[in-house]
Amino acid sequence: MQNFTFHNPTRILFGQGCIANIAPEIPAGARVLITYGGGSVVNTGTLAEVRQALAGLTLFEFGGIEPNPTYETLMRAVTLARDERIDFLLAVGGGSVIDGTKFIAAAVPFVGEPWDILARHAPVTAALPLGSVLTLPATASEMNAGAVITRHATQDKLFFVSPLVFPRFSALDPTKSYTLPPRQVANGIVDAFVHIAEQYLTYPVDAKVQDRFAEGLLLTLIEDGPRALAEPENYAVRANLMWTATLALNGLIGAGVPQDWSTHMLGHEITALHGLDHAQTLAIVLPAMLQVRRLAKRDKLLQYAERVWGLTDGDAEARIDAAIAHTRAFFESLQVPTRLSSYGIGPEAIAPLVAHLERHGMTALGERQDVGLACARQVYEQAL
Ligand code: NZQ
Ligand code: ZN
Repeated sequence: MQNFTFHNPTRILFGQGCIANIAPEIPAGARVLITYGGGSVVNTGTLAEVRQALAGLTLFEFGGIEPNPTYETLMRAVTLARDERIDFLLAVGGGSVIDGTKFIAAAVPFVGEPWDILARHAPVTAALPLGSVLTLPATASEMNAGAVITRHATQDKLFFVSPLVFPRFSALDPTKSYTLPPRQVANGIVDAFVHIAEQYLTYPVDAKVQDRFAEGLLLTLIEDGPRALAEPENYAVRANLMWTATLALNGLIGAGVPQDWSTHMLGHEITALHGLDHAQTLAIVLPAMLQVRRLAKRDKLLQYAERVWGLTDGDAEARIDAAIAHTRAFFESLQVPTRLSSYGIGPEAIAPLVAHLERHGMTALGERQDVGLACARQVYEQAL
């Protein structure tokens, strides 16, 4: 196992009705800016529930944070927060709203151009405190220190990480996911699956607990993912999925093990240039990435084949083939297509995608930093 430091300060309130208990998590007297997306939380009543839970506090609202939240929209919230002397942010929504709110939190006290936090890794030395009410299990943004922001004007989709933007608390009520359209349910399952893969399908370092946690989370997604689509109001299924998605990227399974993240970086460029959902890009890239890098990932792929998919017959190459095929079939079974061509993207798209990776400095990706532009091109070609 590799050396590590692990600290996760986010307090989790979990279960049906937990939104009613958020008020004590916010400092008394705070001026609170509630942030949300395109209106789902208005239609489902979640925003009203939040307002009721916070009755008596000074509340402001900022709606309209889009999926793949944009710098342009978020800077309007930054202006509002500065003008109104906001001192606590509460994100109500999915990963995009929470990520966007993390950026607002870091940008409000930032001296200079806040885009530098993303484009130049300008250090975040202060941030407003934030909390979240999660409506979409997928990203684990509710319990991690990362955020991914898009600049519409330049088609850049970049991430930043700062311990100062860990949510102080997150309320996870699984019933809030009942209203998700099937496409977003499926997206969440695929995103969580690939988060686990990025931290598990690398090379062995004899980290038994991390491996077995990862395998347990993958098995839960395989078991309960399809059930969430078939039985949308099955509480136990939704609860298991929500907690799985959080644990998939809250730092626990990634502590002390090598991490990849090349699938995400190649996927971000597809979203930036073609507008696909985040999870759609991952469903396209992961099977191709595993195929192209099967030699480097051989030992973990064999472990994955046996422990996650129960594949024990045939020689090693056949078991790896079958594990990749099972992964692809699982995504397809959730109605998330796994080929660029399924989204109308052809070979002419590959050169611009690779050029964007280069422009963003994504030239040495992967658990051994050996995924260069030639390898990335091969993966995109494999994904056609
Ligand atoms: O905008 P509203 O109207 O709220 O609708 C949203 C949105 O259209 C809707 N929705 C959310 N909860 C709902 C609901 N509809 C009905 N009922 C509900 N309960 O779902 C749509 C998608 O929402 P979004 O927040 O965009 O989805 P997701 O949670 O998948 O977040 C994706 C974003 O997170 C980033 C992605 O890059 C992408 O920008 N990621 C963040 C990560 C992190 N912070 O650690 C890691 C991930 O790898 C990912 O990159
Ligand atoms: Zn992701």
